[in-house]
Amino acid sequence: MREVPPTAGLPLVWRDLIPAGHHLEHDLADFLQVPEVQITCSGTAAQIITLRTIQRESKRRKVILPAYTCPLVALAVLHCGLDPVLCDLAPGHFDFDPVKLSALCDDDTLAIVATHLGGRVANLDLILELASDYGIWVLEDAAQSLGATWEGQPVGMIGDAGFYSMAVGKGLTTYEGGILLTRDATLRTQLKSTAADIAPFKWNWELMRSVELLGYAALYQPWGLPLAYGLPLRRALKQGHLIEAVGDDFSDDIPLHQVGSWRKAVGANALKRLPDFIRNTGARASERLARLSAIPGISVLTDTWGGQGTWPFFMVLMPNARARDAALARLWESGQGVSRLYIHALPDYPYLQGRLINTDTPCARDFASRMLTVSNSLWLDDDAFARILTEIASSAS
Ligand SMILES: Cc1ncc(COP(=O)(O)O)c(C=O)c1O
Repeated sequence: MREVPPTAGLPLVWRDLIPAGHHLEHDLADFLQVPEVQITCSGTAAQIITLRTIQRESKRRKVILPAYTCPLVALAVLHCGLDPVLCDLAPGHFDFDPVKLSALCDDDTLAIVATHLGGRVANLDLILELASDYGIWVLEDAAQSLGATWEGQPVGMIGDAGFYSMAVGKGLTTYEGGILLTRDATLRTQLKSTAADIAPFKWNWELMRSVELLGYAALYQPWGLPLAYGLPLRRALKQGHLIEAVGDDFSDDIPLHQVGSWRKAVGANALKRLPDFIRNTGARASERLARLSAIPGISVLTDTWGGQGTWPFFMVLMPNARARDAALARLWESGQGVSRLYIHALPDYPYLQGRLINTDTPCARDFASRMLTVSNSLWLDDDAFARILTEIASSAS
């Protein structure tokens, strides 16, 4: 039995586990061609460190988020005692609705979280304009988009600060981890000082994450994934626990600690293969994207606005929720890497209920109800991809 992961993560090889004198911060800064990066214990921790730093400079309380994103983004805002304000999406897209975003910005807005979802590059033009008009910070959430660029610049370096995730299954992983970056040298120093205050080294966390990273190295293979990914997925689906099935079952407990040197060394070793991996998955995506997009009635999200994204998976918008659910009924449990991204728009997570501002977000709900993802893992072979195309086409018709 073989299983394709829902996103194309860079597999580890056993040599990655042996420290080889590489330096993750230095090598990542080199890879991204930026002056410096900061490693954090997760993308969420990077977001918290940034919000904690900028909230010292301002009495503003509102942080604007897309109404369809990772629920951890809202939990991070709440963790900092700030107010998550949702902005609805543009119809059929993950970008903000421009009219609604403009209406939400005011003198109490601390930050806008601009989100490069699933490797795709967000349209930053209006966000940057509003930010400059109102004195708002722009935080780029590029959790799933390491390697993506906008007008030749790495995403994350265009706003005031940005972050990538190195969680399990992402392009580059330390099992959990984050990469925080900013253009501003003063802010960079402040971010490091905040991290030193709120995220000290913790042995228990480092030990647990190191064991988890070893498990990932062993099992992130087509023959290991049925056990590590497929089994819990199918169990959760059988019980109807959709939030658990996609790993959206988060809580307010957000660990904040440093990443130890062994995990960084593993990341630095794997990073040597990342440019090739991004090239190969990109080449595979451009060929498969054309075939997926040719299916009548569906749309596949692509890069616009000067963006050059990465391709962990394809985001496919079906004509309606019934067609999406019909396709998933045939494909989700098939082991071919077809899945959903986040189960709900943010207002519909039970653990966020009553905690978010502006929950009237019909386009985000529509997006959540019609979208499915198709893995761009290099382990998804042509025959399996052809079967996926057939099932999507018959569900969409
Ligand atoms: C869009 C987005 N933002 C933020 C996060 C949080 O990152 P992390 O899991 O590293 O905390 C994720 C996680 O997948 C994400 O997909």
